[in-house]
Amino acid sequence: MLPYANVRYCKTHFIEFFENRIERFIVKYKMVEPGDRVLIAVSGGKDSVVLLHVMWKLADRLGIKLHGVTIDLGIRNYSSIYVAVSKKNFEKLGVPYTIIDLKDAFGFTIDDVAKRWRRVCAKCGIVKRYVLNKFAVEEGYDAVATGHNLDDMMAVALSSLMRGDVEGLGKIKPVLPAREGLVKKIKPLAFTREKDVKIYACLNKLDVVSARCPYSRGSTLDDFKHAINMLEEKHPSIKYSFARTLYREQGGLARMKEEPLGKCKICGMPSKSLVCGFCRLRQALQASPRDRVFL
Ligand code: AMP
Ligand code: FES
Ligand code: ZN
Repeated sequence: MLPYANVRYCKTHFIEFFENRIERFIVKYKMVEPGDRVLIAVSGGKDSVVLLHVMWKLADRLGIKLHGVTIDLGIRNYSSIYVAVSKKNFEKLGVPYTIIDLKDAFGFTIDDVAKRWRRVCAKCGIVKRYVLNKFAVEEGYDAVATGHNLDDMMAVALSSLMRGDVEGLGKIKPVLPAREGLVKKIKPLAFTREKDVKIYACLNKLDVVSARCPYSRGSTLDDFKHAINMLEEKHPSIKYSFARTLYREQGGLARMKEEPLGKCKICGMPSKSLVCGFCRLRQALQASPRDRVFL
């Protein structure tokens, strides 16, 4: 039973409905073009594993080529599990893939970050965005696809709204076009509820990691998700109307002028400040722990 659409589906028709809706969404937002090489970022979690399977099914019809990527963030008792699950999914589908080892490529792990600072997730987010973008730009991919679902997007939107982060709100879009040094980012599940993703993964018996990252405990985003889900129980289509407002092409926020980007003086990647957030984090990790570095 899908209360927001007031329909009931059997297994076969739910799967068909789910995949068709994602395909329509990809086409509507012009996420890809025939001939594109698309990098699928897989964390082994249900969202990105479902994304990989659906994109794999649609790839021929959309005329695109897929390549998978997983970042081994070096989180003890966690990274090895999701890297193995991601590999298993890539190999099952025959999708070529790359595993990027953060320690080998950049000399540190997220465990190193956690030893020095709190709010690890926010810093890990900077790292993941940077590494995915750098890899995609250097390897010449046309787009990076991530598994952010409707609930993730609306929770981030609510949190940005409450913090008065207008610039952040303007970035909550299913597609962020390419800019100099930044690859196009697409979120094909941005109109799909988390619950539907779980149902799809379960009906298709997909291999996903159920363990959660040890640093995600007590995340405020989870509280925003709960709040939106409570509202949804009474008003079944509320998430969709919120999303439609935010994703609207001509919305006031979308028209906001984008600041020009400079180049990080250390790594040369796009940055609004002299040194990008990733390089600041790396430099701070190299400083002695006794030097109090605030990020
Ligand atoms: P998160 O930031 O953990 O909410 O993840 C959002 C999306 O980012 C996932 O659905 C994946 O597409 C991507 N992602 C997260 N972690 C990784 C990782 N370790 N390697 C590759 N992609 C990732
Ligand atoms: Fe980055 Fe948990 S995956 S902090
Ligand atoms: Zn940099």
